[in-house]
Amino acid sequence: MKIAVLPGDGIGTEIIAEAVKVLKVLDLPLEMETAPVGGAAYEAAGHPLPEATLKLAQQADAVLFGAVGDWKYDKLERALRPEQAILGLRKALGLFANFRPAICYEQLTHASSLKPELVAGLDILIIRELTGDIYFGQPRGRRTAVDGHFPGSEEAFDTMRYSRPEIERIAHVAFQAARLRNRKVTSVDKANVLETFQFWKDVVTEVHAQYPDVELEHMYVDNAAMQLVKAPKKFDVVVTGNMFGDILSDEAAMLTGSIGMLPSASLDKNNKGLYEPSHGSAPDIAGKGIANPLATILSAAMMLKFSLHQPEAAARIEQAVQAVLAQGLRTADIWSEGTQKVSTREMGDAVVAAVKAGT
Ligand code: NAI
Ligand code: MG
Repeated sequence: MKIAVLPGDGIGTEIIAEAVKVLKVLDLPLEMETAPVGGAAYEAAGHPLPEATLKLAQQADAVLFGAVGDWKYDKLERALRPEQAILGLRKALGLFANFRPAICYEQLTHASSLKPELVAGLDILIIRELTGDIYFGQPRGRRTAVDGHFPGSEEAFDTMRYSRPEIERIAHVAFQAARLRNRKVTSVDKANVLETFQFWKDVVTEVHAQYPDVELEHMYVDNAAMQLVKAPKKFDVVVTGNMFGDILSDEAAMLTGSIGMLPSASLDKNNKGLYEPSHGSAPDIAGKGIANPLATILSAAMMLKFSLHQPEAAARIEQAVQAVLAQGLRTADIWSEGTQKVSTREMGDAVVAAVKAGT
């Protein structure tokens, strides 16, 4: 099983090192090869996604990705910015389904910004479509307005757009994921205002006919944003478009205590995928050795489950993470009175020890 390891920038290198350490104690035939990406690749090769890195990712069975970006690249032209690497990888690998589980671990109930009783036992899955929507729709640009409220003034515009096959395939992914869970899907839209999302709602409803065993509920995005902080446990699988998913998944992240706990998977039609923590390169804490590596370690567990078909190994990692939390070990972002503050490396070491102890 070949894994492309792309650490990237900032805390990316620190957290990936811990995930690689954990993967290495599993006694699986994993072949891991590392390549630069993002700002690190720009420095080394003049491009955030060099040909060699892309090729490695394409040939691998899965990609384990850290994070990219730093304020020092803000002045570069858009095509050379580190963030283009992740967009380029999603496109080149055909990744269209972004899975973000939001799980509140028992020991972190009090780290959530919501009342403990609202998040205790929380386990929901947000599925965000990654290829369409207003993020990629054409035309887009700036021009002089010819109509609207201020004709003759400067204006900017984007295009919201979804095709039937794009909606159909993400709807299938959501219903199939729901079958492995509690058989309930909430499709989030803004059908009352946007034609794109009326179409979304219609197509999701059509696809649902093939999954009579799964309950489907439609919800407007503004209500979904409210329900996520009011009664998040009412959700199971949430499926939505690129932009709503971007925002709602960050909102859901906060329910779980820290963005440092949140893994993610981006999958193609064959479950080949890219696995990364939901957070960015955190330049504010990079190099200090205090970043939480658990989101990345849990992303590696998702990789074992979805792309490498090693559910037992994935479960060993997940149990090890719960074990270190039960031991009271906490990185700074999840630390609270009465728990033991540890560094990035100490947290990784503890997970390694717990994986070994669990066998
Ligand atoms: P960020 O997620 O990097 O950081 C937000 C806040 O959360 C910061 O205070 C940071 O210290 C904290 N944080 C993040 N991960 C943490 C961890 N593992 N442990 C402890 N604390 C953690 O988001 P921000 O600051 O908006 O962006 C920083 C850079 O990351 C930017 O260049 C941005 O473009 C990039 N970025 C990259 C992503 C990716 O590679 N997929 C995703 C999001 C942002
Ligand atoms: Mg985001």
